Amino acid sequence: MAVDVLLGLQWGDEGKGKIVDVLSAGYDLIARFQGGPNAGHTLEFDGKKFVLNTIPSGIFFENTMNLIGNGVVIDPITLKKELEKLKAAGHDLLAKKNLLIAKKAHLILPTHQLLDAANEKKMGDGKIGSTLKGIGPTYMDKTGRNGLRIGDITLPDFKERYQKLVDKHVSMLQALYGEVADFSERETAFFEALELLRRFPLVDSEHLVNNYIKQGKKVLAEGAQGAMLDIDFGSYPFVTSSNTTAAGACTGLGIAPQQIGEVIGIFKAYCTRVGGGPFPTELENETGEELRQTGHEFGATTGRPRRTGWIDLPALKYAIMLNGVTQLVMTKADVLSGFDKIYACTHYNYLGEKIDYMPYDICSVSPEPILKEIDGWNEDITGITELSEIPAKLQSYIDYLEAELGVPVKYLSVGPDRKQTLVMH
Ligand code: GDP
Ligand code: IMO
Ligand code: MG
Repeated sequence: MAVDVLLGLQWGDEGKGKIVDVLSAGYDLIARFQGGPNAGHTLEFDGKKFVLNTIPSGIFFENTMNLIGNGVVIDPITLKKELEKLKAAGHDLLAKKNLLIAKKAHLILPTHQLLDAANEKKMGDGKIGSTLKGIGPTYMDKTGRNGLRIGDITLPDFKERYQKLVDKHVSMLQALYGEVADFSERETAFFEALELLRRFPLVDSEHLVNNYIKQGKKVLAEGAQGAMLDIDFGSYPFVTSSNTTAAGACTGLGIAPQQIGEVIGIFKAYCTRVGGGPFPTELENETGEELRQTGHEFGATTGRPRRTGWIDLPALKYAIMLNGVTQLVMTKADVLSGFDKIYACTHYNYLGEKIDYMPYDICSVSPEPILKEIDGWNEDITGITELSEIPAKLQSYIDYLEAELGVPVKYLSVGPDRKQTLVMH
């Protein structure tokens, strides 16, 4: 099977960028299949740190091609900034010729961001806590069959098409929210950014990916967000607007399900969430703050403090089921070093009943977590490179999780750097 899929099993920020980077050398193509600049994927190596929003995390390897797939929504302004930052750091992707963009990927317009902000404002306390990148409104236009795609930027009437959609957005904003902020500067930046994007290969990516497959090359589909933010199966409506689960790799790249090989699911040794919505194991106390500070749990995209809590096994089991996960990656185990006791949520107390699954009405009825106490390991593990150095208590935490989840932990991440990764099996 030619295509492996790597995705987050929690509410995002599990460390996908780091692990894709670690695995990239073994693949010919890294392809993002959904989401947009709501994502912030962090990579660290050689003392340098990069945060990628739209660009796949395989760009630092010589022989690896990268594709922004059709399922992704692209904000040209953000993408231009990402490209410029990378160029300034010595990674000119135009010169390296290692980035391709799917013609069928949809465009985020400046007015999509205004709509996102207006929607959020209207919802007040019940807001989703979106990243305000225009994700929801762009996917709405995609499914509403109004969207503009990257391939359209080469059409002679692109400006008219753009204007037609903007006029619609402006009348929506006026009718629903009464005001329309001035977006002329962003509009200028948008068109400037398109000039840069035109210089990249805009491709029929479904053919390209399938040609890779035919030639026996290896493809890794890089997910954004996490399973619990999936539009269908996440904690709706507190979700993002795309299918973050494995099926999204098929629609987001144009590949058949039987081409999928390994499904690599990433989770943190604990749990975080940014934005609103249910989070059964959340710790709104000193322990939560300690996890936030030790784990540097602040959004890579928005800088917002991430909510923190213990690992949630019913949610993880659900994510593993939905995705058909074949290998697990546990990240940030080092953050738990120093905790005498750690906890795992094994079940929920849901209206007086002990259940081991996520209830449908999780947003209205807050299930209480039933926690199992686990011994912590009081050792710094950030420098370990051999399996024999793994503290016994960490190993028994991993053994416990493998037994509960029924999938092997293939990689263990013990720090943000590329090198701080152990292959377990
Ligand atoms: P992504 O969105 O899934 O790619 O994850 P983010 O980059 O948003 O957040 C993960 C954060 O944790 C980043 O700052 C990473 O550099 C960092 N990170 C990844 N793995 C580890 C790890 O094993 N230990 C520690 N301490 N940090 C990690
Ligand atoms: P990565 O790929 C964490 C969250 C937002 C909000 C909800 C909807 O870095 O893991 P949106 O802007 O998508 O309409 O926001 O989803 N969210 C993320 N949380 N990591 C992400 O991406 C996220 N992308 C969106 O905080 O709650
Ligand atoms: Mg992130």
